[in-house]
Amino acid sequence: MKYTVMKAAAAALILPAAMAADGPMVPDYEVHLLMDPTVVLGSDFKLTPTVLSTFAMPTTVTKINVQYLDTVAQDLHVNGWSCRIRNIENDSGFDLTYKWRLPVNNGDINGALNTAFSDGWNSGQGNYDAQIDWLYASQTLSIQRDYTASSKGYSGTDDPNEKDSRSMLESNAPGMFDDWVSDGWGTGMLKNAVIYGPVLTKRSTGTWNGVELDIEVWPIENSSGTGIEYLVEASFKTSDEDSASSGRDQLITLLQNEGWFLAESVSKEDLVMENYHPTS
Ligand SMILES: *[C@@H]1O[C@H](CO)[C@@H](O)[C@H](O)[C@H]1NC(C)=O
Ligand SMILES: *[C@@H]1O[C@H](CO)[C@@H](O)[C@H](O)[C@H]1NC(C)=O
Repeated sequence: MKYTVMKAAAAALILPAAMAADGPMVPDYEVHLLMDPTVVLGSDFKLTPTVLSTFAMPTTVTKINVQYLDTVAQDLHVNGWSCRIRNIENDSGFDLTYKWRLPVNNGDINGALNTAFSDGWNSGQGNYDAQIDWLYASQTLSIQRDYTASSKGYSGTDDPNEKDSRSMLESNAPGMFDDWVSDGWGTGMLKNAVIYGPVLTKRSTGTWNGVELDIEVWPIENSSGTGIEYLVEASFKTSDEDSASSGRDQLITLLQNEGWFLAESVSKEDLVMENYHPTS
């Protein structure tokens, strides 16, 4: 008994930082708005010169090859998780992301952060980033952790094959992901995971309203797998809710005035998970 008390006292002495940090996570904000592909893309499926000049964008793009790993039944997705692998042009290695998502109900961001806190997400988890993804008509809390894995044996913007994708995601799996449903759940699911995608996306980077603004073009298979549907998304990041909110209003107005706006709230990842139907 005495020993336990002393141990607890010692722990309290050496862990003040961790204890002080033990509260809900503090998010930053990313606004995502869709643009009408039939208007903003030319016949070559590239952004038109008017769109590029409006956002001070060069004609050069960064290619990013994106794929998600999940079971055929989408067990990870159903439980709020996603495992993403990206090959970003000219970056070394593959970029691995483990992301957990929670819908924000009726704009109640604090409510979502508190729910996440009771699920084990706290501000002391410095390896994770919390973000509010703010779409046209919905908000989501995303908590993610990134790793880099070797791309030895692969070239250009190729993404890893199924076997290598499973193994690099299994070997890097963080505890919050692996033990989410039960101990070893995450890596267990990854053993049977299949590839959703890949989607070779193109990102243009410019400036608007004093912040960096990105436009990504995603050629995603349509649901019958017989054609491509283009998703075009403009996004910017900011650290506080007020500037996210006012910037979002201004960007919607600009896109509407130009006739470029698509008043929908489709997430890129959701569309990939919906339209691709891998079986093995
Ligand atoms: C990547 O590197 C190649 C070769 O140096 C270059 O032509 C291309 O513009 C680079 N792409 C980006 C997005 O930096
Ligand atoms: C998919 O695209 C093809 C080719 O454009 C088209 O014929 C087909 O109807 C589309 N399917 C769906 C479900 O949109």
